[in-house]
Amino acid sequence: MILLGPPGAGKGTQAQRIAAKYNLPHLSTGDMFRDNIRRGTPVGLRAKPLMERGELVPDDIVLSMVEERIAQPDCRNGFVFDGFPRTLTQAGDLERICGKYNFGVTVVLHMVVQQELLMRRLTGRRICKSGGHIYNIFDRPPKVDGICDQDGSELIHRPDDSEGVISGRLAAYEKQTRPLVEYYQSRHQLSAVDAMATADVVTTSIARILDGAETPR
Ligand code: AP5
Ligand code: MG
Repeated sequence: MILLGPPGAGKGTQAQRIAAKYNLPHLSTGDMFRDNIRRGTPVGLRAKPLMERGELVPDDIVLSMVEERIAQPDCRNGFVFDGFPRTLTQAGDLERICGKYNFGVTVVLHMVVQQELLMRRLTGRRICKSGGHIYNIFDRPPKVDGICDQDGSELIHRPDDSEGVISGRLAAYEKQTRPLVEYYQSRHQLSAVDAMATADVVTTSIARILDGAETPR
């Protein structure tokens, strides 16, 4: 399945929950790039300046990273994509890769959220350094300031969560990623989810769709 939506829609929050509920790997291309940056790999070196400016990483780099990941044995029974595909080229390439490995994209969840909410969600976000658990100082604060409830590690502010960079990321979404809504709609693979509800309500809506209670529209 694919979680599609703008920065701050809650893709990562929901992908963590859904992956745990259905025992599937959570494949976040953003997390993969941040990991490559931490390790100083050639992919990380190319991605870093682009991510710092809020621009997308070139399709060929994303594709080879994703293809390598889904060839791993833990992906045999499916996976949850968070932040991929993000361009029409990536969507086409995903289809080709899925054909090669005999995977089918079953459902694309379009996380619908008003743009005005996104700045608050992103500037207030804090991420756990070791496990990637997601908090928000305004709406979903940790019990102890700066410390992850789940594993006690330090919470950090993502470097691309500053107001100037967020604007660029939102613009990149509108220009390069939003066309995927129509692309998957025309293939009858898209299900809309109200991502403005509380995180628990959003999880329930997604689970209902995945469990087949609602057909894609
Ligand atoms: P990536 O890491 O994917 O970032 P993004 O798409 O900008 O999305 P975010 O992670 O910011 O938001 P999210 O939807 O995951 O929201 P979250 O759950 O954290 O990509 C980063 C960069 O990497 C890109 O800019 C690009 O450079 C590169 N990249 C990655 N993939 C790429 C690709 N395929 N192609 C090219 N380049 C790529 O939630 C946000 C906040 O809201 C949190 O504080 C959370 O607690 C809160 N929140 C969540 N849900 C709710 C709710 N229901 N109610 C209230 N608050 C909520
Ligand atoms: Mg995310």
